[in-house]
Amino acid sequence: MNASSQSLRLHDEQWRAVVAAAGAAPSTHNTQPWRFVVEPDAIHLHLDPSRALPVIDPTGREARISCGAALLNLRLALRALDLEPVVTLLPQRRHATLLATARLTTLKPATPDERLARQMANAFLSIGNANKAVGAQEMVTQVEPTQQTFANLAIFAYQAGQTRKGDLAAGKAVDLAPKDEQKDLKTQLDSAKTQALTQQLQQAAPSATPTVGG
Ligand SMILES: Cc1cc2nc3c(=O)[nH]c(=O)nc-3n(C[C@H](O)[C@H](O)[C@H](O)COP(=O)(O)O)c2cc1C
Repeated sequence: MNASSQSLRLHDEQWRAVVAAAGAAPSTHNTQPWRFVVEPDAIHLHLDPSRALPVIDPTGREARISCGAALLNLRLALRALDLEPVVTLLPQRRHATLLATARLTTLKPATPDERLARQMANAFLSIGNANKAVGAQEMVTQVEPTQQTFANLAIFAYQAGQTRKGDLAAGKAVDLAPKDEQKDLKTQLDSAKTQALTQQLQQAAPSATPTVGG
C-alpha cells in the first residue's frame, strides 16, 4: 500500500463541516437543491428533485448551476483540510440525480514554498533581520536538507545570536559534506561563528571613544 492508493477518511465532525460549507453555496431562490451522501472516504452530490422550481426553471438548469456552486464550496472545504479530492462529474451517466462524486484519495502535503522562503531569507538578511532570516532558512532546509542549506542556516543563526541552533546546523552541514571537504567547511563555519560573536559583542559593549555633541 502506498500513499497515493491509500484511501483517506474523515471523522463525522469533519464531514459535517465540509457539508455545512458546501450547503452555504448560493442557489436560485435559496432552494438549496442538493443532497449529500457521505461515505467514510467519499462524498456524493445529488440533485434533490423535491427542491425543483418547475415554472421558473423547467429544465433544472439553474438547480444544476446551484449544485455546481455547492461542489466548488465542497472542494474548497476539503482543500482547507489539506485534502485533494478527486472529483468525477456524472460518475454514473444514467443515474437520475447523481451529479458528482468527490473521493479522498490523495493527501496534499502541506509543504512550505521553498523558493519563496529562500527569497524571504535573503530579503530579511538584506534588511538586517537575522532572526526572521533564520525562520525562512529553516523552511528551506526542511524542504531541501543539504550541506549548503544547513551551512546557510548555521551562518544566519550565528548572525542572529542563536548560537545553539547555529552549532546544530553547522554539525549537520559538516556531516553532509564529502569527507575531504569536512575540515574546510568546519573551519569556515567556525570563523563565521567567531565573526558573528565578535560583532555582537562590539554592538553590545559601550562605545570606547566617547562621542562629542548631540
Ligand atoms: C446559484 C444561483 C444564484 C442566484 N442568485 C440570484 C440572486 O441572488 N438574485 C437574483 O435576482 N437572481 C439570482 N439568480 C438568478 C440569475 O440572476 C439569473 O436569473 C439566472 O441565472 C438566469 O440567467 P441566464 O439564463 O441568462 O444565464 C441566481 C441563479 C443561480 C443559478
